[in-house]
Amino acid sequence: MALRDIVTDPSETLRKKCRPVEIFDEKLGKLLDDMRETMIHADGVGLAAPQVGILRRIAVVQVDDFYIELINPVIVKTKGSQIGPEACLSVPGKNCNVKRPYKVTVDYQDRHGKEMSVTAEDFIARAFCHEIDHLDGVLYYDKAFKKEVAQD
Ligand code: CO
Repeated sequence: MALRDIVTDPSETLRKKCRPVEIFDEKLGKLLDDMRETMIHADGVGLAAPQVGILRRIAVVQVDDFYIELINPVIVKTKGSQIGPEACLSVPGKNCNVKRPYKVTVDYQDRHGKEMSVTAEDFIARAFCHEIDHLDGVLYYDKAFKKEVAQD
């Protein structure tokens, strides 16, 4: 395993739509291992491939003991909503509130290409949404939630 350099905002790489993964080989496994190590080293809870300069639909998420590798992930179902702070390894030193679904179901493939599905809520659902947005060139602050305050 090896640490990869994390691309930081602003960067065109972070704004591109990623292509699907079509080949599930050792190179993909190595990338996933490196992404996990890089994420943990940077004290993050998620990392998407464009953040290490790879424009493919790949993300890893680790929250406490829960670790998942999402390849070609698609959000197929959502329920409810939540508003909470987010940050990003590619946008160091910043955070803001973002509105997300409370619960999401994601169809994806594992590192061997097997079709899988996962349902998560609360913080993990938020992490899934954040990472999947990266695969479409969307950064969390694009969705900054501004409280609608009544004007005096
Ligand atoms: Co991010």
